[in-house]
Amino acid sequence: MSAKNIDWSSLGFGYVKTDWRYVANYKDGKWDEGTLTQDNTITMSECAGVLQYAQTCFEGLKAYTTKDGKIVCFRPDLNAERMIESCERLIMPALPKERFLEAVRQVVSANKEWIPPYGSGASLYLRPFMFGYDSVIGVKPANEYQFRIFATPVGPYFKGGVRPLTVRISDFDRAAPRGTGHVKAGLNYAMSLYAITDAHEKGFDENIYPDSATRTYIEETGGANIIFVTKDGTVVTPKSDTILPSITRRSLMYVAEHILGLKVEQRKVRVDELADFVECGLCGTAAVISPVGKIVDHGKEIVYGMEGMGPVIQKLYNTLRGIQMGEVEAPEGWIYEI
Ligand code: PLP
Ligand code: COI
Repeated sequence: MSAKNIDWSSLGFGYVKTDWRYVANYKDGKWDEGTLTQDNTITMSECAGVLQYAQTCFEGLKAYTTKDGKIVCFRPDLNAERMIESCERLIMPALPKERFLEAVRQVVSANKEWIPPYGSGASLYLRPFMFGYDSVIGVKPANEYQFRIFATPVGPYFKGGVRPLTVRISDFDRAAPRGTGHVKAGLNYAMSLYAITDAHEKGFDENIYPDSATRTYIEETGGANIIFVTKDGTVVTPKSDTILPSITRRSLMYVAEHILGLKVEQRKVRVDELADFVECGLCGTAAVISPVGKIVDHGKEIVYGMEGMGPVIQKLYNTLRGIQMGEVEAPEGWIYEI
């Protein structure tokens, strides 16, 4: 496919092979200098650490065309930092932050014609990832690793675009206490495939996972954090050690407090208090902020509204998108110009 043939407004969230990707290899205790390549395939040993024991982690961020035609990324330094944390948890050699940012810059610059235009509603999704490359048959970390970033133009994450979602409280677990829920390990997503397939078959858009230990508190969904709004307009997000620290959620909580002047709380949220909230949204790089219209908890329906976004979620969405699109002044350091 050529970028010139793309109808940006009808893009979903899928893989499109773009021209250039970045590759760096770790061997003999050090990273090579890295390079761009047009080859989107990877050849490795049948016994590679990633294939046998899932030693891999990843990130997700986007490049946007702003109102005045600049190309920007949103807080990529936080993706670099989170990937370092994921690597530490998985005994992988972290790519230094400056190298990560330079790789982002190179991939975005090299794929300029694949960056959707301002106003199209689409963006260029970047997928940094790293994996154990050499052969391991005993259970242990690999010695060699590959880091890559590819780019793919994307539209909305959920089928049907931005619309109120119907989600369920899952009977499956996503993250164990003291496990890997707080890092972006591929294994967390492998864990969730059974649950998401089952959810889709039963007509739900996503799973909300309660805490695995007690199944009393709300954690997050398979690919996004959750925010709620109370009757008095307070923005609430769950606090837990087994949630991925979403960059979108952290940014939204800042926007709510410092730009919109709302009260914010990060605290434990009980499953049995869901009906006390008046709005709910899923937030993440892919999800942006997707409104939740209905949560189904084993037959009991908690309805926030199937008509569109609630007023607070809408304000948060407009402000965040505005910052990313260069329409609203960004807090210091949030916008990384390519
Ligand atoms: N939670 C999970 C499980 C995710 O996979 C993601 C996506 O990255 C998020 C939350 C949202 O994080 P972020 O806003 O940093 O993209
Ligand atoms: C992202 O939002 O970037 C993610 O990695 C979530 C994934 C489920 C697509």
